[in-house]
Amino acid sequence: MTGRVGPPHVVNIEDLRRMAKRRVPRCVFDYIDGGADGEVTLAENCRVFDRLIFRPRYAVPAPGSDLRANVLGVNLSLPFLLAPVGSSRLFYPRGEIAAAFEAGAAGTAYILSTLSGCRLEEVKQATAGPAFYQLYLCGGREVAQEGIRRAQAAGYRGLFVTIDTPVAGLRERDVRNGVKELASRNPLKMLPFVSQFIARPAWVAGFLADGGLMNFPNVVIPGRGPMQYADVGAALSQSMVSWEDLAWIRKAWNGPIAVKGVLTGEDARRSVDEGADAVVVSNHGGRQLDGVSSTLRVLPEVVDAVNGRIEVLVDGGIRRGSDIVKAICLGARAVLIGRAYAYGLAAAGGPGVARAIGILREDIVRTLKLLGCSSLGELKRSHVDWT
Ligand code: GLV
Repeated sequence: MTGRVGPPHVVNIEDLRRMAKRRVPRCVFDYIDGGADGEVTLAENCRVFDRLIFRPRYAVPAPGSDLRANVLGVNLSLPFLLAPVGSSRLFYPRGEIAAAFEAGAAGTAYILSTLSGCRLEEVKQATAGPAFYQLYLCGGREVAQEGIRRAQAAGYRGLFVTIDTPVAGLRERDVRNGVKELASRNPLKMLPFVSQFIARPAWVAGFLADGGLMNFPNVVIPGRGPMQYADVGAALSQSMVSWEDLAWIRKAWNGPIAVKGVLTGEDARRSVDEGADAVVVSNHGGRQLDGVSSTLRVLPEVVDAVNGRIEVLVDGGIRRGSDIVKAICLGARAVLIGRAYAYGLAAAGGPGVARAIGILREDIVRTLKLLGCSSLGELKRSHVDWT
């Protein structure tokens, strides 16, 4: 869907965020919207874009708008990919499938989280576009190896290995909303938290028709089956990815690998040394270590450290197409959008994702024209400045 999702008239990502808040229960909205601890980094990820100003060149013809990008050997029509977002199936029935379909329809890639509620094979089949697989080592090396094998067989084009999650961040909103108690399936523990669902009967109906509380069908524990929702916190705490792991992951995966969660020049250089094909400058959307830098601020340091040897992608705080243009001016090859499409998915399913993608695409085209550029390749560091 390329038209409007409404009512209300959806003009920007914030409109989708408001719609999402009205459609899903508080615990689901806060899972999407919230971050770690005091949410300082979460807020700063967005705020920092206001401090980077444009320096347009006027009175130059900018006839076309070439938005194409090449990421990990894959041609995309847009310079943004849909980031891995865990548990998207809670936002909307078969959420990962709906989002992957819309990414492909728009000519871009979908990155599926290990912590997906839908089988990775079904997600791949749902999209006409390329798909990548995000890797956590939940359940240990053998479980991950099986996930890698399945992703390779299903036709995923590359792996995004997340390194910033040796333990799940403290998402205070999740604690207050009783996410742990609700996942326990113990009625007595759940009771104090169930009122948040009463106001959202349409979501509840869709959730139940979709099978109720999802498990994780891409994390299959030998002898036990798919990992249960309640086990995710413990599983993340036992699934730290080290640089040593990169070596066996590279052997197991026949294709490009991106290291996601790089925030320093040191880790960027280490990623190059360990044979990565790309880094993603990411603080996990402010959901892990609170108090780290916004990603836009460290992007230039990482770009300098990598010095053109591998690709640099970035995520965090992107709510407008002009934010994407700013990241590209600072040296990113492309960006990952997470909440920007997750709000759309929670607001209206696939059409909401399509609307989010459409908003960002239109923003980028307009911003390029206003800067006097016909393609992303013309964007330079001199098109922006810090205030
Ligand atoms: C999972 O990766 C999350 O950030 O919730």
